[in-house]
Amino acid sequence: MKILMATTEAVPFAKTGGLADAVSALSIALAQEGHEVRIIIPRYYSINRDTLGHLAGAMGVHIGGREEWSAVYTKELPGSPKKNPVRVYFIDHEQFFGRDGIYGVPAEPDFMDNPRRFTFFARAVFQLCRKLGWYPEVLHAHDWPSALVPVFLKYGERTEELAKTVSVLTVHNLGYQGIYHKDNYYYTNLDWQVFYEAGFDDWNMMNLLKAGITSADKINTVSPNYALETQTQAYGFRLDGVLRYRSADYRGILNGIDTRVWNPKTDRYIPQPYSVKDMTGKITAKEALQKEFKLPLEPHVPIIGMVTRLTEQKGVGELFGPAYGSAWSICQDLRLQMVLLGSGDPWCENEIKNLSYRLANFKARIGYSEAESHLIEAGSDLFLMPSRYEPCGLNQMYSLSYGTLPIVRNTGGLVDTVTNYNPDTGKGTGFMFNDLTPQAIYDTVKWAVDTYYNRRSHFEAMRLAGMKQNFSWKKSAKQYLALYEAALAKAATAG
Ligand code: ADP
Ligand code: GLC
Repeated sequence: MKILMATTEAVPFAKTGGLADAVSALSIALAQEGHEVRIIIPRYYSINRDTLGHLAGAMGVHIGGREEWSAVYTKELPGSPKKNPVRVYFIDHEQFFGRDGIYGVPAEPDFMDNPRRFTFFARAVFQLCRKLGWYPEVLHAHDWPSALVPVFLKYGERTEELAKTVSVLTVHNLGYQGIYHKDNYYYTNLDWQVFYEAGFDDWNMMNLLKAGITSADKINTVSPNYALETQTQAYGFRLDGVLRYRSADYRGILNGIDTRVWNPKTDRYIPQPYSVKDMTGKITAKEALQKEFKLPLEPHVPIIGMVTRLTEQKGVGELFGPAYGSAWSICQDLRLQMVLLGSGDPWCENEIKNLSYRLANFKARIGYSEAESHLIEAGSDLFLMPSRYEPCGLNQMYSLSYGTLPIVRNTGGLVDTVTNYNPDTGKGTGFMFNDLTPQAIYDTVKWAVDTYYNRRSHFEAMRLAGMKQNFSWKKSAKQYLALYEAALAKAATAG
């Protein structure tokens, strides 16, 4: 099958979160099954043109009543199968992408011209197909910045060579929808009747994700539990009604993890590899982590790790809120060490810095580091993710495969991947709580730490149970193929 992924993030080229990991890993898994997969992504300023191949000729993209001229670059996706590599196409446009930041920069978190930038990108998808003379059976778009792709396919582009092409939209995070003043609708070149028909209208604003959800042939999100939650008012971010309306075409497919990158047996960022058969490497990793973060070298004190974007979604208010957060008492009262790597909201970064000055057992690095994220996963005993909502979550899966027990809230993909500890049977793979309150986080961390000290055999058995789970992308790729087939079958009967 020919599949084109339209995305604004893909590792190793551009990443702000799990979307980038998911798109590349899924593409590779599909290519391994023998499918022809290509990716289209903007050529951001940070992606060096000299490392890419150039496609001859300029490419014109018609938006907002004028022609925008762009160039196309290309490269094979690193890590893709030698015999059937995934090809990536980069759309180069100085005015739209020749700047720092993907969606924004700290001083301007959402670029003012984002609706125009991503309208351009979505139109470029179709121009690229024509330029290459290559027409996919499935156009697979990801999140709000690519959500116009299914809309354009349905309203105008589904002709000639693309007459039988279907669209799938994956929602990685319903919290970000791309809501803009409807003046920006002008760039789409669509007429106003389509504004209502395609589902753009959102209290007189223009909602890109809502239009994508309304227009795509099939929709999915990244875990079965989040697919159910998003159809409720509590988690639906005002789109629960639209998702319920489309429930026949909507499903949840759990992300996998890239086991070539996240695997304690082969990890090049940790001092010594380890596995269920020989866990010595985990002890070494703990020591290396304590050294790296200048923590006392105490092998028998549990370390709680965190690697996260510092935003409301991740429960950081309840954990680090200056007046009410529980991090201070967790580190004061309990015999543990805590290590955090993350960046995000300035208030939270500041608060974390303050805490680390005042607490000897709390160390933090504000920033982004691939190497340190691996060392934290491997060297910690517990991993904390008190998410307000979590479409899938990758870090808890990394933790499980590194024998690091997750402490998570009962939400989203965390429920599909972590089994709560049962002290009667000793079974489980992590520790779970229901309400997002500072007290609940405190109590659950205390419970986990108590288990570490006082029920050691349970704790060790849980580590092994987690490490034995299979989170490979192969399984998820099969489910995506079934979704593509369903979209094609539906279009065939409708046509
Ligand atoms: P989200 O996409 O909501 O941020 P996920 O758990 O799906 O959450 O994915 C987060 C990804 O980003 C993981 O691969 C995680 O290791 C990585 N990550 C987040 N913050 C950092 C950081 N400061 N340094 C290194 N990696 C990070
Ligand atoms: C989003 C979600 C995260 C998910 C990731 C990849 O960023 O917040 O839960 O794992 O997308 O699908």
